[in-house]
Amino acid sequence: MTAPRITVAGSVNLDLVTRCAHLPAPGETVLGGVFAQHPGGKGANQALAARLLGAQVALIGCVGSDSHAEAALGLLMAAGVDLTGCASVTGSPTGVALIAVSEDGENQIVVAPGANGAFTPDRMSGPIDGALIAQLEIPVATVDAAVSRCEGFVTLNLAPACDIPDCLLQRADLIVVNEGEAEFYDPDRLKAAGGLLAITLGSAGAILYRDGKEVARAVPPPVEVRDTTGAGDTFVAALTLALIEGQSEADALRFACAASALSVTRAGAQPSLPQRKDVDAILAPGKTGA
Ligand code: RIB
Repeated sequence: MTAPRITVAGSVNLDLVTRCAHLPAPGETVLGGVFAQHPGGKGANQALAARLLGAQVALIGCVGSDSHAEAALGLLMAAGVDLTGCASVTGSPTGVALIAVSEDGENQIVVAPGANGAFTPDRMSGPIDGALIAQLEIPVATVDAAVSRCEGFVTLNLAPACDIPDCLLQRADLIVVNEGEAEFYDPDRLKAAGGLLAITLGSAGAILYRDGKEVARAVPPPVEVRDTTGAGDTFVAALTLALIEGQSEADALRFACAASALSVTRAGAQPSLPQRKDVDAILAPGKTGA
């Protein structure tokens, strides 16, 4: 079988991470552990996740012409993601995410978008082949332009939450949000957009709706949680890939929950993304994820 083609239009960041006993409250300073630096960004994470799960992937986005760019793109390049649509822009630094991860694996993230904000619609040309995945760490106008160039399956991950027009929601074949984002947009508005809507529930799994009606619910296999950063991105990529592969809605949701569960067992966004064989293994009959 030929690997499905997915284009991701989205952000590329360098993640600057420190673990700490608990996440700081407003105004609080906490002493953290050892500092680590990983490639990240929702777009880049979703592109790498889709690639490691078996898709042919192209990423379109922007990085700065600085030393962070190479580090941010390193794992994508090594995995064979097509980066020809990834531009280096002068005058803006590569996006950076400041991430604190608590001992129970929860995180707080602040993103300085840098070059992701310079990813304007005019930087895209030609049609988008295959499926498209987009998120909201790049300008909404650019997401809109990417969607209008795609005749295939469109996934919109509405993260981080921001204003978005109904016409864009209606063009999506699949919308993915977490519980907080669902509340921000209003679940009824998202259901009214038609198509598929996935709401992720953290360790409780996820629910999939079609045309506003629940069609599947899945819980992830039990795992030891180390770092939840990138779990949502893994879910988005895995669910999109499984659906375009032709898996049933129930199987696709189970696949996405298993993939994102595996991603929380390791530290970092991109270093934690699972390989296809690991997801298939945890879903094999007789395993806890089956
Ligand atoms: O979804 C996780 C990602 O959000 C991190 O990699 C960080 O870069 C932010 O974009």
